Amino acid sequence: MRRRILLIAVILLLFASSCRRANRPASAAAVPPPTQYELQLGKQVYQSYCIGCHGDSGAGDGFNAFSLDPHPRDLGDPVFQKGKSNADLADAIRRGGAGVGLTSLMPPWGHTLDDRHIDAVVLYIRSLRR
Ligand code: HEC
Repeated sequence: MRRRILLIAVILLLFASSCRRANRPASAAAVPPPTQYELQLGKQVYQSYCIGCHGDSGAGDGFNAFSLDPHPRDLGDPVFQKGKSNADLADAIRRGGAGVGLTSLMPPWGHTLDDRHIDAVVLYIRSLRR
Protein backbone atom coordinates (compact mmCIF):
# COMPACT_ATOMS: atom_id res chain seq x y z
CA MET A 1 0.00 0.00 0.00
CA ARG A 2 2.75 2.46 0.95
CA ARG A 3 4.56 1.60 -2.24
CA ARG A 4 1.52 2.41 -4.32
CA ILE A 5 1.12 5.81 -2.63
CA LEU A 6 4.78 6.52 -3.26
CA LEU A 7 4.37 5.57 -6.91
CA ILE A 8 1.37 7.86 -7.31
CA ALA A 9 3.27 10.70 -5.64
CA VAL A 10 6.20 10.24 -8.03
CA ILE A 11 3.89 10.20 -11.05
CA LEU A 12 2.16 13.37 -9.87
CA LEU A 13 5.51 15.06 -9.32
CA LEU A 14 6.73 14.14 -12.81
CA PHE A 15 3.48 15.38 -14.29
CA ALA A 16 3.71 18.69 -12.43
CA SER A 17 7.30 19.31 -13.48
CA SER A 18 6.58 18.56 -17.13
CA CYS A 19 3.68 21.07 -17.04
CA ARG A 20 5.98 23.74 -15.69
CA ARG A 21 8.46 23.09 -18.48
CA ALA A 22 5.75 23.42 -21.13
CA ASN A 23 4.63 26.76 -19.70
CA ARG A 24 8.01 28.41 -20.06
CA PRO A 25 7.88 31.17 -22.74
CA ALA A 26 9.31 30.06 -26.07
CA SER A 27 11.53 33.15 -26.44
CA ALA A 28 13.45 32.39 -23.25
CA ALA A 29 14.26 28.97 -24.60
CA ALA A 30 15.21 30.28 -28.06
CA VAL A 31 17.73 32.92 -26.94
CA PRO A 32 19.74 31.69 -23.99
CA PRO A 33 21.26 34.48 -21.90
CA PRO A 34 24.99 35.02 -22.49
CA THR A 35 27.15 32.80 -20.38
CA GLN A 36 29.70 34.17 -17.96
CA TYR A 37 32.34 32.73 -20.25
CA GLU A 38 31.16 34.70 -23.30
CA LEU A 39 31.00 37.95 -21.32
CA GLN A 40 34.49 37.36 -19.96
CA LEU A 41 35.80 36.64 -23.44
CA GLY A 42 34.19 39.83 -24.75
CA LYS A 43 35.70 41.85 -21.95
CA GLN A 44 39.14 40.46 -22.72
CA VAL A 45 38.80 41.30 -26.42
CA TYR A 46 37.60 44.81 -25.56
CA GLN A 47 40.44 45.42 -23.14
CA SER A 48 43.04 44.13 -25.57
CA TYR A 49 41.93 45.87 -28.76
CA CYS A 50 39.32 48.56 -28.15
CA ILE A 51 39.94 50.31 -24.86
CA GLY A 52 42.71 52.58 -26.19
CA CYS A 53 40.20 54.49 -28.29
CA HIS A 54 36.82 53.67 -26.76
CA GLY A 55 37.83 53.96 -23.10
CA ASP A 56 37.05 51.88 -20.02
CA SER A 57 33.32 52.46 -20.03
CA GLY A 58 32.90 52.88 -23.80
CA ALA A 59 32.46 56.65 -23.42
CA GLY A 60 34.99 57.32 -26.21
CA ASP A 61 37.69 58.63 -23.88
CA GLY A 62 40.52 56.13 -24.32
CA PHE A 63 44.10 57.48 -24.16
CA ASN A 64 44.19 57.54 -27.96
CA ALA A 65 40.85 59.28 -28.40
CA PHE A 66 42.12 62.87 -28.20
CA SER A 67 43.97 62.36 -31.51
CA LEU A 68 40.88 61.06 -33.31
CA ASP A 69 38.58 63.33 -35.26
CA PRO A 70 35.74 62.43 -35.04
CA HIS A 71 36.03 61.01 -31.53
CA PRO A 72 34.63 57.55 -30.97
CA ARG A 73 31.00 57.85 -30.02
CA ASP A 74 29.67 56.97 -26.57
CA LEU A 75 28.94 53.25 -26.88
CA GLY A 76 27.01 53.25 -23.58
CA ASP A 77 24.46 55.81 -24.81
CA PRO A 78 21.05 54.13 -24.56
CA VAL A 79 19.83 55.86 -27.75
CA PHE A 80 22.80 54.53 -29.70
CA GLN A 81 22.34 51.07 -28.16
CA LYS A 82 18.67 50.99 -29.06
CA GLY A 83 19.28 52.12 -32.63
CA LYS A 84 21.74 49.36 -33.48
CA SER A 85 21.15 45.63 -33.75
CA ASN A 86 23.82 43.14 -32.72
CA ALA A 87 24.34 42.47 -36.43
CA ASP A 88 24.96 46.22 -37.08
CA LEU A 89 27.58 46.36 -34.33
CA ALA A 90 29.25 43.14 -35.48
CA ASP A 91 29.32 44.48 -39.05
CA ALA A 92 30.99 47.75 -38.01
CA ILE A 93 33.56 45.84 -35.95
CA ARG A 94 34.25 43.31 -38.70
CA ARG A 95 34.51 45.77 -41.60
CA GLY A 96 35.63 48.88 -39.73
CA GLY A 97 34.41 52.44 -40.13
CA ALA A 98 35.30 52.60 -43.82
CA GLY A 99 33.32 49.44 -44.50
CA VAL A 100 30.06 50.80 -43.08
CA GLY A 101 30.29 54.45 -44.19
CA LEU A 102 31.83 55.85 -40.98
CA THR A 103 35.34 57.19 -40.43
CA SER A 104 38.27 54.98 -41.41
CA LEU A 105 39.78 55.80 -37.98
CA MET A 106 37.72 52.87 -36.72
CA PRO A 107 39.86 49.93 -37.91
CA PRO A 108 38.42 46.74 -39.42
CA TRP A 109 38.81 43.72 -37.10
CA GLY A 110 37.63 40.93 -39.39
CA HIS A 111 41.19 39.71 -39.98
CA THR A 112 42.14 39.81 -36.30
CA LEU A 113 39.01 38.47 -34.59
CA ASP A 114 36.89 35.48 -35.60
CA ASP A 115 33.08 35.45 -35.39
CA ARG A 116 33.05 34.03 -31.87
CA HIS A 117 35.25 36.85 -30.57
CA ILE A 118 33.28 39.50 -32.47
CA ASP A 119 29.98 38.17 -31.06
CA ALA A 120 31.51 38.16 -27.57
CA VAL A 121 32.71 41.77 -27.82
CA VAL A 122 29.25 42.80 -29.09
CA LEU A 123 27.80 41.22 -25.93
CA TYR A 124 30.32 43.14 -23.88
CA ILE A 125 29.35 46.42 -25.60
CA ARG A 126 25.72 45.63 -24.67
CA SER A 127 26.82 45.35 -21.04
CA LEU A 128 28.22 48.92 -21.24
CA ARG A 129 24.73 50.35 -21.75
CA ARG A 130 23.95 52.95 -19.09
C1 HEC B 1 42.16 53.48 -33.37
C2 HEC B 1 41.00 53.74 -32.56
C3 HEC B 1 39.92 52.70 -32.46
C4 HEC B 1 40.05 51.40 -32.04
C5 HEC B 1 41.31 50.67 -31.59
C6 HEC B 1 38.71 50.82 -32.07
N1 HEC B 1 37.81 51.74 -32.50
FE1 HEC B 1 35.82 51.49 -32.67
N2 HEC B 1 35.63 53.39 -33.37
C7 HEC B 1 36.66 54.31 -33.49
C8 HEC B 1 36.13 55.57 -33.97
C9 HEC B 1 36.94 56.85 -34.23
C10 HEC B 1 34.76 55.37 -34.12
C11 HEC B 1 33.75 56.42 -34.51
C12 HEC B 1 33.14 56.17 -35.83
C13 HEC B 1 31.98 57.07 -35.96
O1 HEC B 1 31.21 57.15 -34.99
O2 HEC B 1 31.82 57.66 -37.00
C14 HEC B 1 34.46 53.99 -33.76
C15 HEC B 1 33.22 53.41 -33.79
C16 HEC B 1 32.91 52.16 -33.28
C17 HEC B 1 31.59 51.60 -33.22
C18 HEC B 1 30.31 52.31 -33.59
C19 HEC B 1 29.92 52.02 -35.00
C20 HEC B 1 28.62 52.71 -35.28
O3 HEC B 1 27.73 52.00 -35.73
O4 HEC B 1 28.49 53.90 -35.04
C21 HEC B 1 31.70 50.37 -32.65
C22 HEC B 1 30.58 49.39 -32.35
C23 HEC B 1 33.09 50.15 -32.39
N3 HEC B 1 33.80 51.24 -32.78
C24 HEC B 1 33.59 49.01 -31.80
C25 HEC B 1 34.96 48.79 -31.61
C26 HEC B 1 35.48 47.56 -31.08
C27 HEC B 1 34.66 46.38 -30.59
C28 HEC B 1 36.83 47.70 -31.08
C29 HEC B 1 37.85 46.67 -30.64
C30 HEC B 1 37.79 45.37 -31.27
C31 HEC B 1 37.14 49.01 -31.59
N4 HEC B 1 35.98 49.64 -31.91
C32 HEC B 1 38.43 49.52 -31.70
C33 HEC B 1 37.97 54.09 -33.19
C34 HEC B 1 38.51 52.90 -32.75
